[in-house]
This record gives sequence, C-alpha cells and structure tokens, in this order.
Amino acid sequence: MKKKKIAVVFGTRPEAIKMAPVILELNKHQDIFETKVIVTAQHREMLDQVLSVFSITPDWDLNVMKENQSLSDITTTVLKGIERVFIQEHFDLVLVHGDTTTSFAAALAAYYHQIPVAHVEAGLRTYDTYNPFPEEANRQLIDAITDLFFVPTVATKENLLNENKNSQSIIVTGNTVIDAIKYTKELTKQHPILDKMNRKSEQKWLLLTMHRRENYGKPMSQVFEAVIDLVEEYPEIEVLMPVHLSPIVQSVVKEVLGDHDRIHLIAPLEVDIFHRVINKSTLVLTDSGGLQEEAPALNVPVLVLREKTERPEGLEAGTLKLTGTDKQSVYENVKELLNNTELYDKMAQALNPYGDGTASIKIVEAMKAYFN
Ligand code: UD1
Ligand code: UDP
Repeated sequence: MKKKKIAVVFGTRPEAIKMAPVILELNKHQDIFETKVIVTAQHREMLDQVLSVFSITPDWDLNVMKENQSLSDITTTVLKGIERVFIQEHFDLVLVHGDTTTSFAAALAAYYHQIPVAHVEAGLRTYDTYNPFPEEANRQLIDAITDLFFVPTVATKENLLNENKNSQSIIVTGNTVIDAIKYTKELTKQHPILDKMNRKSEQKWLLLTMHRRENYGKPMSQVFEAVIDLVEEYPEIEVLMPVHLSPIVQSVVKEVLGDHDRIHLIAPLEVDIFHRVINKSTLVLTDSGGLQEEAPALNVPVLVLREKTERPEGLEAGTLKLTGTDKQSVYENVKELLNNTELYDKMAQALNPYGDGTASIKIVEAMKAYFN
C-alpha cells in the first residue's frame, strides 16, 4: 500500500493533550503513514506548554491567536490558513478533535477540499446549542461532515446511531486523555506547587478551573463568591486556581479572588504537573470538559460548574456531580462533600468509564483498516 498522508490538526490546550498520544502512536507506523502536524495556535502559550511536554514539533503553525479573538476571527483565519496548507500538500485523511472552533474550521476546510475527515472524541452531545457554547454546535457540525468517528464510549456511539450515522464508520476507542495520563505518569519533573501541597498535608485543597464562554460574567462571580464563603468558614481549605489566559477570565478572577491568602492564583501548569496536582487535591471544581474525564481516572470527585454536561458517563459512574453556577448550590455541594465522608469516598472510588489508555492504538488500527 502506498503511504497515506495524514494531517493532524489542533489549536487549543485540550485538543493538544488528547491528540498528542495519537501523534506519538502514528509516528510508530511511519512505514504506513506520513503524519503532518498542523497547529492553528488558537491558543499560543497554553498550546506550546503541551507541545513541549510531549516533545512534538509542528510541521505547520498558523499562529492565529489574537487577544480577545471572536469566534468569527478564529473561524475565518483558521479556514483560510488551513486552505493554504491543503493547496500545498495533498492529504488522504484529516484528523480533528472534539469541539473547538479550530476543529470545526479545520473539518470544514477538509470538506471543501474533499478530503475525508476523522473525528477523535466524536459523538458527545447535550443537544442544547448554547450549553456549552459554541462547542455543542461545533461538534454537531463536525459530525455532519465526518467520515470516520472515533468515539470514547458506547453511549457516544448510541448518540451517533440515533442520528443515523453508519455503524461501520463508528469505532469505540476510549478517550485518548487516559493515554495522555499514562504518558504524564512517567514524567518526574518537579514544581514548587507540588511541594506546597505536600507541606500542608492537613489542609484540604480545592482545585478550581473556570473558563467557558457561557460562564463569563455573573456565573463566574457567583461561583467565586461561594468559594470565598467556603474559605472563610473552613480554615483547612486552600484553593488552587491555575487561571486560564483569557483576558476576560483573568480580569474577573483577579477582581473577585485576588485578595485572599488561602486562594492561590497561578499561571496555567504544564499538563504533567497538573495531573499530579489533581491527584493531590481533595476536590475539583470546574467547568472544563477534559477535567471531567481525568478526575475519575485519578480518583478525585468533581463538582461540575455547568447546567448540563455532554459527559454523562462520569455522572453515572458517580464521580461527577452537576452543581450549576448558582452561589448557594456550589456552597452547599462543597460543604456536603467535606462533611460527609461516606459520600466523598463513594465519589472518589467510582470507576473510570473512559478506557484503559489504549485509545490511540485503537485509532491507528482503525485507520489502517479504513485504508485497506
Ligand atoms: C477555547 C475553546 C473551548 C475550550 C478552551 C480550552 C472555542 C470556541 N473555544 O476556549 O472549547 O474549552 O479553548 O481552554 O474553540 N489566550 C492567551 N494565551 C493562550 C490561550 C488563550 O492569551 O495560550 C487568550 C487570548 O487572548 C484569546 C483568549 O484567551 O483570545 C480566548 O481564547 P479562545 O481560544 O478564543 O477561547 P477559550 O475560552 O480559550
Ligand atoms: N490543564 C493543564 N494545566 C492547567 C489546567 C488544565 O494542563 O493549568 C489541562 C487539564 O489536565 C485538561 C485540559 O487542560 O487535560 C483541560 O483544558 P481546558 O479546561 O482548558 O479545556 P476543556 O477541557 O474545557 O475543553
């Protein structure tokens, strides 16, 4: 078989973390696949951190990020930028990931050039196009033009079957984030925050991340006010928040949380360090997608700061609980978990529904079968 040329396209931190294991696996099969990594750099610093941890050097870097970029900015610059690459190089398959605007625009560019699209982490749904926004629409739009669906779970396969997708084109792989965790477990780099968390072992660390567009403004302020109340009530609570680099997030975080000695606001951590930080945390409070998948694998309960989740597997496994962003709800849910050991242990011991860390092997095997 003539070597097949594969484009792996991504642009943000979570896509990079979840595509890196696929790239490393594809690189083991250079006799069959010629793999080119195209980054849009929708994120710059947060993307580069991941590339460095996984030692990946992109073949193409569109460098699109602008401060306060709008969704239209990202869509149009990525669409045009990828088109320039597709004119210069012919690809047999384009791999995109998840639900970002980079992924949507890259899939659209591939479709316009009549290149088959493979979608990693396909099939997730809330069926509410404003929750999360714009990710729910992005993932439905991508799946409308996808040829090969790599889904993390049987439930996500069901979503696609219900949308009349061809069963033969859907492969259940597990989530590649578990592969990423396997990789980061082997790294032993140190960071001052890990020492800090060790030193204060009697303390309870709440790990907080928040960045979603639908949570900008009041929802974020409400959650942060609940966090302040909890810190004031419980002297053993320390809050750690690696703050997303979005200027909108930065400004509300600094304004509301900036002045408390047990609320530690830090820069985004490299993912290997961050995985160890999750491990050392008592509880995760987040609106992140990826964290909802990582925490069950690392045995830490997660309170999800959203109204809806496209990851019901974690709810069913018992490791996640949806709190929304109402101040009282967040406050009471944290209190309950801190006070009720039985409930806490049940959540912490729930089983990881996202596979055994072999998703990227399954993806590459399915790609071989596709070309045969
Ligand atoms: C994007 C994705 C979201 C994903 C999130 C992961 C879209 C529409 N949104 O949202 O699905 O959950 O990434 O974090 O695709 N910035 C920096 N440096 C960085 C990264 C961001 O300065 O390394 C700043 C820039 O000013 C940028 C802003 O953050 O304009 C927002 O970034 P953007 O990618 O537009 O949105 P996110 O909220 O990060
Ligand atoms: N993450 C990281 N450093 C941090 C915070 C998060 O590496 O300081 C990782 C985390 O392990 C997860 C991913 O970033 O894999 C989640 O990204 P984010 O919350 O930005 O996006 P989402 O998953 O919501 O799309």
